[in-house]
Amino acid sequence: MNVVVIGTSYVGLTIGISLAFLGIKVTCIDIDEAKIEALQNNNMPIYEPGMQELFELSRNQLTFTTDYEVVGCSEVVFICVGTPTLDDGNPNMIYVKKAADQIGNHLGNSFTVVVNKSTVPIGSGNWVESLIAETFEAKHGFKPKGILTVVSNPEFLREGSALHDMLYPDRIVIGTDHPMAYQVVYSLYQSIINQSFLPPPHLPRPDGFGTVPVVATDPASAELIKYSANAFLSLKISFINEIACLAEKVGADITQIAQGIGLDNRIGFKFLNAGIGWGGSCFGKDTAALLAFAKEYGLEMAIVEASRKTNYALRQKVVERLANELKLLKGKTIGLMGLTFKPFTDDLRDSPAIDIAYKLLQRGVRVVVHDPIAMERAKKEYGDLPIKYVGNPEDLFEDGAAVVLMTEWPLYQKIDWNNAASKMTNRFILDGRNFLPQQAIEEAGIKYIGVGR
Ligand code: UDX
Repeated sequence: MNVVVIGTSYVGLTIGISLAFLGIKVTCIDIDEAKIEALQNNNMPIYEPGMQELFELSRNQLTFTTDYEVVGCSEVVFICVGTPTLDDGNPNMIYVKKAADQIGNHLGNSFTVVVNKSTVPIGSGNWVESLIAETFEAKHGFKPKGILTVVSNPEFLREGSALHDMLYPDRIVIGTDHPMAYQVVYSLYQSIINQSFLPPPHLPRPDGFGTVPVVATDPASAELIKYSANAFLSLKISFINEIACLAEKVGADITQIAQGIGLDNRIGFKFLNAGIGWGGSCFGKDTAALLAFAKEYGLEMAIVEASRKTNYALRQKVVERLANELKLLKGKTIGLMGLTFKPFTDDLRDSPAIDIAYKLLQRGVRVVVHDPIAMERAKKEYGDLPIKYVGNPEDLFEDGAAVVLMTEWPLYQKIDWNNAASKMTNRFILDGRNFLPQQAIEEAGIKYIGVGR
């Protein structure tokens, strides 16, 4: 089977490289020539653990190009382009439209399944199909009847463990009313569904991991599954953060509370870590889109709205905590440990750290930052931020009035706290993820405050 993947960012590359590893011939297309050139020269344009290794194992099965010609001789075309948020909360569909136009222009005469991986509003499957058909008809003078169908197959890949989530997923959702298209997509994933592939050495199969459940559904339900999953996860985190605020007031410990409620199987432990809240490319974008979409139908989604409100207020709360502790912020130096929205990624989209850096700068703070992976990306994407970047995390403490842990990068647990203490003008650490070794920090004479305890 020949497969095309349009879009070579986190989702597109994860899918393209994984399918290639499973023995499928994959062509990855992107309009960004620099990215394609980098990939042709075996350089990864993003940081994702294990990707370089899997890429090397699959290289023979992979082609990278900016040319859509190959669509004409492919059975499956994945759309994995970005859908960033517009001002009104709706996703920007311009890149999906461009991809659809190109597919329509290059579609061949044999049956082609277009798989929508990009997170798109409910009903977009139909819309994409109509766009492709329109372009095809304009070129050929007849409709692509019987040779085209669009399937919704949402991704649930977490950055940082995307390859693991791809090869060992909790479920695969296939949304289509077309039996043949269902079979095509099913057979593409067959070796993942029945786990018949030989795992790559650096991504071993988890013990006891068995057959992957497949949810066969209609396109609209598949599209809504994606939004619902992300909205639910976001509200689980916002809920624990809301309880954390109360825990602080009454002198309770949120980590114990998470343990106490997580032991209930109906609740579970995952996504109950309190801190400075969620960020990243999905939760903010998808919850905003869900609200905007529901509004079109005259619906209010009070719970989803509350999840967002609680989450974004946490960022301001960090500034207030610092002001409480330091009194005057103006002119003081504050270090930020980590810039990404979570560890093991270089993605800075909707990162609490970036937001908090802006807020601190507005209050006249001298902001110093460190991140083990994302500093070059931050310099490129946030060049307007007058912040100081340091290559060694211990330099964050130099003349520091406070240091805030933003991202749980493991290297921050190994800091020499005595050395750190000796550099600070005021010894205060705010642990935004309840991640640092409290005892060692306090023994070094530094005041430590976590979240919700
Ligand atoms: C998410 C979904 O998990 C994934 O299924 C979807 O397809 C894409 O969006 P991702 O954004 O990569 O994945 O990260 P995730 O691991 O879900 O974390 C999101 C944010 O929540 C991060 O900022 C993380 O720090 C935060 N988080 C997570 C918490 O604050 N507490 C938790 O307990 C878990």
